[in-house]
Amino acid sequence: MSTGNFPTMYPVESFDNLTDDLSCADFPECRPSFYVGEDLIIKSEKPIDGNKIKVGVCAMRKKSRSKPMCEILDRLERFDYIEVVVFEETVILDDPVEDWPVVDALIAFFSNGFPLEKAVQYEKLRNPFMINDLQMQYVLQDRREVYKILKKECIAHPRYAVLNRDVNDETDLQFTETEDCIEMSGDVFQKPFVEKPVDAEDHNVYIYFPVAAGGGSQRLFRKIGARSSVYSPINKVRKTGSYIYEEFMPTDGTDVKVYAVGPDYAHAEARKSPALDGKVERDKDGKEVRYPVILSAMEKCIAREVSLAFKQTVCGFDLLRANGKSYVCDVNGFSFVKNSSKYYDDCAKILGTMVMRNLAPQLHIPWVLGSAPEDVPVVPTTSGSMMELRCVIAVIRHGDRTPKQKMKMEVKHAKFFELFQKYQGYRKGHLKLKKPKQLQEVLDIVRFLLNENKVKKNSVIEEKKAKLEQLKLVLEM
Ligand SMILES: Nc1ncnc2c1ncn2[C@@H]1O[C@H](COP(=O)(O)OP(=O)(O)O)[C@@H](O)[C@H]1O
Ligand SMILES: [Mg+2]
Repeated sequence: MSTGNFPTMYPVESFDNLTDDLSCADFPECRPSFYVGEDLIIKSEKPIDGNKIKVGVCAMRKKSRSKPMCEILDRLERFDYIEVVVFEETVILDDPVEDWPVVDALIAFFSNGFPLEKAVQYEKLRNPFMINDLQMQYVLQDRREVYKILKKECIAHPRYAVLNRDVNDETDLQFTETEDCIEMSGDVFQKPFVEKPVDAEDHNVYIYFPVAAGGGSQRLFRKIGARSSVYSPINKVRKTGSYIYEEFMPTDGTDVKVYAVGPDYAHAEARKSPALDGKVERDKDGKEVRYPVILSAMEKCIAREVSLAFKQTVCGFDLLRANGKSYVCDVNGFSFVKNSSKYYDDCAKILGTMVMRNLAPQLHIPWVLGSAPEDVPVVPTTSGSMMELRCVIAVIRHGDRTPKQKMKMEVKHAKFFELFQKYQGYRKGHLKLKKPKQLQEVLDIVRFLLNENKVKKNSVIEEKKAKLEQLKLVLEM
């Protein structure tokens, strides 16, 4: 994978080099740094024209004051020549763009209620360096447009077709439905298939099951507490509204959530798919359970392509791992990882460096990606040294196995030897007694010995009494 002039910045690959080159001891203040090895690059310089580079954050309050945003902005401000300016929601909603703060770089992104058109006007007026493209944020609101771009850019996605009812389109008329399949304009989708509203903000995604698997559908919705979907016995697809229909990709029951920061960095984690039983897995703190994911080289390429195709530096999207491949099924645009200080560090470092390189190229800021030691799983090994845990491999078999029911007993009494002789034990060197008659003879001997011992204690029998009792019990069953 070509990364232009910059080193590839996936933390998994780059971690080894970084721990060698950049230990915390090299950074007394442990700040996002412009150090390469021993070099101190901009500390000695004067601020650019005496001013700091202003990085604006233009988003709805809920987003711009969220925990991950605050964590990342805090770290961004540690860059000596960056100043963060968060636009107030009232300013964004009520004031003309001429009155918005003037900034050099802008983090702006759509969410419910955000006036995207005003942000576009602001961009025209001030021409700041944009972290996430605004025009593309219109595209991200329409699943049809998102899939069109995926198709155009040859980024793997599920096979799909669009049923448009919101425009004068003939496809609706060509739509036919039978018990286990739908057909539109020659595209056939056998159940299971997925039905998604064209509006990307509408999360009422339905999955329809074939009759052989019980039929009905699973209705997904935006998480409400402990639930993310519910089963419905309804077999028929929705008859109002426009939808994308797509092939159901059989995953292991998890979605891979990818969070790209530029073309060369992506964090990924897996979550239980809402398409399963709809019960949200939460840990003891109420946070949704996340499973660690290491992206394959192919998936890292996908992350790069998605970030570039949609011109979103900070870009979240969903991957479905199915049939040995990975498919993009949803692109969300601006989205931060929650609760990962390593991601906060990496993300701020990448964004800060990107801003500096673009707005202060005279400083020749190199790409450096540090790592947050507290997040690295370092474990003691059998040799005593500490090593980074890269993976866990387990060989597992089920333990559902009937224990052997065996008893060993040494016998010395003449009656046992007589039995041994009677059934040619001496000739074969061993003896197997299985027939009821033979086992009866063994039982007779055991009863005789126990009786004899009752009449007159015999130390040899007494020693074996417990085993003889057991033998008697089993043979009498
Ligand atoms: N083609 C598909 N095959 C299997 N599961 C899918 C498919 N598309 C979506 N899903 C499941 O449905 C969920 C919601 O779909 P998604 O496109 O991500 O919509 P949303 O915008 O609501 O996040 C996904 O996280 C995934 O679990
Ligand atoms: Mg999604």
